[in-house]
Amino acid sequence: MIYENYSLKKHNTFGIDCSARYFFDYENNAELYDFLRNDFQKDLPFFVLGGGSNVLFTKNFAGTIIHSRSKGIEIVRETSSDVLLRVASGEVWDDFVAWAVEHNLYGIENLSLIPGTVGASAVQNIGAYGMEAAQSIVAVRAVNVFTLEERIFSAEECAFDYRHSVFKTECARNFCITSVDFRLRKQGELLLNYGDLKARFERSEEQNLQTLRRIICDIRNEKLPNPEITGNAGSFFKNPIISQEEFTQLQQKFPNVVYYPAENGQVKIAAGWLIENAGLKGFCVGAAQVHTRQALVLINTGTATSDDIIALAQEIEYRVFQQYGVKITPEVLYV
Ligand code: EPU
Repeated sequence: MIYENYSLKKHNTFGIDCSARYFFDYENNAELYDFLRNDFQKDLPFFVLGGGSNVLFTKNFAGTIIHSRSKGIEIVRETSSDVLLRVASGEVWDDFVAWAVEHNLYGIENLSLIPGTVGASAVQNIGAYGMEAAQSIVAVRAVNVFTLEERIFSAEECAFDYRHSVFKTECARNFCITSVDFRLRKQGELLLNYGDLKARFERSEEQNLQTLRRIICDIRNEKLPNPEITGNAGSFFKNPIISQEEFTQLQQKFPNVVYYPAENGQVKIAAGWLIENAGLKGFCVGAAQVHTRQALVLINTGTATSDDIIALAQEIEYRVFQQYGVKITPEVLYV
């Protein structure tokens, strides 16, 4: 369906009230191709929107929003050890995780309850509790919205990184993801080495994939505000990655800083700790606030404008830099 001057309020989890000049949603690839061939205004900007759980609309969008409602989980191939699944881009991510766990398939259980869609999981390489989507994605199918060329990006071509992929770069700017291929395992080891996961798991009566999913959902519900009640987009900032030398200096000044080893000898710092320790938990600009249970999350207390949220984010970036000399950058995409 094509809509004109369409409100995006229900399409971004911050609940920002703004609109798109055109909004197109589709249930299957035939509808998408038909739209791109006949009705797509190629001279206007476009943006592919998933669940809107990682975007901040800064103003009305003067072009076309393309939104997938395409659903389906198809078993492409099955061996004694694993299953190759093709999942439509508009499938709700957590519905897919629930399906996988129900079918006793391992590989995405720690990503339970992450908001958003399957298409966006590849763009963002979503991650939580020691697991990333990239570990299970084997290919991404996409269409070039201008030429209608269909392309299959191998996992390597997706160039996955921490909350990053080729789909966030110029190279894949013109592509709209139609489905994602995942390889999930029939047997596997559960990843329990994050925080108190292991302790919680061992305290549980039954210890299986379902238990782990329930625990992850519990932890997220304890810490993260439900976007259906309180507008937010999960972690607003990425955890910054700094060199070992920078880290040594930081740790001398702040011995309690929370960190994790990162690739190439670098160190990933818990941005939530930096923000909380700078005294910013609960800090407000207008109706935008630093969440009181998780400082990495910014919330809309009800009437926040995108300007409130941007001003709050800038103030946090500034104060964190002043205090620690560490630059934090938004994970959330400004549109
Ligand atoms: N911390 C604080 N104060 C806070 C928040 C965190 O001191 O207010 C410290 C604590 O020591 C805590 C540590 O930071 O143990 C890590 O916090 P948490 O486990 O909540 O994880 P995070 O680093 O803040 C990342 C992801 C989340 C993901 C969790 C769990 C990013 C940007 N965020 O957050 O992902 O759910 O780990 O794995 O990497 C998201 O991307 O939207 C998201 C929610």
